[in-house]
Amino acid sequence: MSAHRLSVGFTLRALGCAAALFAASALSSLAGAEEVKIGFLVKQAEEPWFQTEWAFAEKAGKDKGFTVIKIAVPDGEKTLAAIDTLAANGAKGFVICPPDTSLGPAIMAKARLNGLKVLAVDDRFVDAHGQPMEDVPYVGLAAFKIGQKQGLAMVEEAKRRGWDLSATYAVINTFDELDTGKKRTDGSVDSLKAAGLPADHILFTAQKTLDVPGSMDATNSALVKLPGTATHLLIGGMNDSAVLGGVRATESAGFKAANVIGVGINGTDAIGELKKADSGFFGSMLLSPDTSGYETARQMFEWVTTGKEPAKYTALDNVTLITRANFQQELTRIGLWK
Ligand code: GLA
Repeated sequence: MSAHRLSVGFTLRALGCAAALFAASALSSLAGAEEVKIGFLVKQAEEPWFQTEWAFAEKAGKDKGFTVIKIAVPDGEKTLAAIDTLAANGAKGFVICPPDTSLGPAIMAKARLNGLKVLAVDDRFVDAHGQPMEDVPYVGLAAFKIGQKQGLAMVEEAKRRGWDLSATYAVINTFDELDTGKKRTDGSVDSLKAAGLPADHILFTAQKTLDVPGSMDATNSALVKLPGTATHLLIGGMNDSAVLGGVRATESAGFKAANVIGVGINGTDAIGELKKADSGFFGSMLLSPDTSGYETARQMFEWVTTGKEPAKYTALDNVTLITRANFQQELTRIGLWK
């Protein structure tokens, strides 16, 4: 009898244990099912700007407990394939800087098909008529204003060096296909003109590609058009790469660093250049890659977990001019000094 009670008791205890184990494993698989994944797709993964956005997005993932799937999307085909990959991996939404803004409608159609939420960063989608797709949440720059600050930084440095405006010319590398690019160079030129640089001292030259070789080619073709009186040069463009190539072109054409003032935009892509003792690349307007990476990822996480949609348009206007004098201190401030 007592043996029987013992065995019943034992069986009940074993059952209790099994039930507890079952509950624990059910809980953990539930937690597994709840792992939130978001995508972060960028057009130029080789550019430090985008690597920095990725790094900050991953930091947000670590802080808030979600996974970031990073995919490089250099063209339309890869972009659409990446959206399928994200869906197959259980992602709920993605942040994207598209390789071509006119892919907007195709990206949205593909995302909708897969039930994914979309937040555009840096480059705003345009529709079939070339109009911005204002219903897709977007985080980008207050581009004209930042361009104005870049132009101002160039003229202030020219003044500080005591340059004569009659011998000063500006070469502006343009990339008008991209709205944020056109607005930046328009803003920059606005400041140059306001400072008194004559309109015929400003040469516009289109970049075929948005990288250093592209801007070097563009500047090279403008330099040959300069009059012999042009001894001092300002080099502008929509980002650091657009100005770095321009400065390289002035070096090959024999301009001394002291006679060239190039100011980029991004900051992240100019670190190696500013570590050089001297060059015609004077400085860069450091943006907020911490906001573009961390905040966009966080907002997407919040959207897919709580339903709170990001603002339709967030214009970032926070910039700091970094030069050889202060870049270490400024980059350290946002955790980018290595
Ligand atoms: C564009 C440029 C990048 C960077 C971002 C900032 O995408 O290609 O280099 O300037 O804008 O928003």
